[in-house]
Amino acid sequence: MTEILEVKITALGAQGDGIGAHDGTPVFVPGTAPGDLVRAVISEKRRNGIYTQLEAIVEPSADRIEPGCKHFNKCGGCQLQFLSGDTYRRWLKERAEMTLSHRGLPLDVIAEPIISPPKSRRRVALKALQMPGRLILGFNERQSHKLVDVTECPVTREEILAVLPALRTVLKSVLKKRMTADIHLTLSGTGVDMLVDSAMELDLAAREQLVDFANAEDIAAIHWRDQGFVDPVIIRREPVMTLSGVRVPLAPAAFIQATEDGEAALVREVVTACEGYARVADLFCGLGTFSFPLAKNHQVLAVEGAKQPLEALKLGLNQATGLRQVLAQHRDLYRRPMTADELAAFDVVVFDPPRAGAKEQAAELAKSQVKRIVAVSCNPNSFGRDARTLVDGGYILEKLVPVDQFLWSPHLELVGVFTRP
Ligand SMILES: C[S@@+](CC[C@H](N)C(=O)[O-])C[C@H]1O[C@@H](n2cnc3c(N)ncnc32)[C@H](O)[C@@H]1O
Repeated sequence: MTEILEVKITALGAQGDGIGAHDGTPVFVPGTAPGDLVRAVISEKRRNGIYTQLEAIVEPSADRIEPGCKHFNKCGGCQLQFLSGDTYRRWLKERAEMTLSHRGLPLDVIAEPIISPPKSRRRVALKALQMPGRLILGFNERQSHKLVDVTECPVTREEILAVLPALRTVLKSVLKKRMTADIHLTLSGTGVDMLVDSAMELDLAAREQLVDFANAEDIAAIHWRDQGFVDPVIIRREPVMTLSGVRVPLAPAAFIQATEDGEAALVREVVTACEGYARVADLFCGLGTFSFPLAKNHQVLAVEGAKQPLEALKLGLNQATGLRQVLAQHRDLYRRPMTADELAAFDVVVFDPPRAGAKEQAAELAKSQVKRIVAVSCNPNSFGRDARTLVDGGYILEKLVPVDQFLWSPHLELVGVFTRP
């Protein structure tokens, strides 16, 4: 039997769901804002609360706005687009507070969130599916494998959106029946770069159509990856990124920060936190997003576990001028974190790991005498764990800056600055 609750929403949780209460038990209702009075259908009762689906808004909150995108509510990308700017900003700060309070860390260090504007996302991963009679190109629905056919997107750069109609046409003719593909589009410094992941071998006709598409749309390069093998279909211009004035080659779908604004904010916070110190280790350095700006005033050791970005960083270094000494080291920091003894050679350590965080490296840092640590994170949960380790090791969390590169989603980056007193 369908159970329906009437709930007043009073807060937003870590995943952006509205939270109210029923007889003292938390009730989670996705798609709602603080101040909404809603009717919600119970889908699951768990230990931590009642999970529901929104049935109707009885009285809307004053914090709601009309979302601009026609795919809102279906597309899983921008679930919080209906929140007013102030409410969304407040929630980003609350998200950072939840991270710290969950780990018993002080909250008075949180700075104002830095939010990337609409139309600024410079890398997207779309999915394509060849259906009988039509091709679907878009994003997943929220918490579902179903695809939403996307014809507009308010967060993505115009240069990427501009190629989608022609991309749709070429994929419709290239992809075989029922085949799927993941399409990674990155706006590089030399134009849109495309990597297609698909378990489909390209024949000559498909290859020619992709080349025609690249020429017509001025695509920089297209690679096709079939079961791990990367096939360069056409390279019209070598994709490159300019990181703090240094040009580095960009491998297909290589990691770059999601927006230019976000990258600039992260670099600003990292560089400011390192001011006044001489020797810096940049761990999980990738292509050198932080190593290059830091190398203007510091000696830098850049450490990375993947060979491709490290080689790109080295090529960038070879051509860069005006940088101080930079050493690039290939190392798996999960299996072989830098030890407290090795870290004695540095005044500051910057670390920016993948979503899993850097448990092993944080444990070594906690034992070290490094004066300052800057933790850059794309996952508040692993950040909280690693921050707790550092604080238990005697570090003080001095500042935490929320940086939002995924507008209207619950995805949030954090920059934490820790000092050893
Ligand atoms: C979030 S990215 C950050 C990259 C860079 N700091 C930036 O801002 O562009 C995380 C980086 O960690 C690297 N990485 C992943 N696993 C690693 C490991 N076990 N050891 C060292 N680096 C690793 C990835 O290749 C990637 O470059």
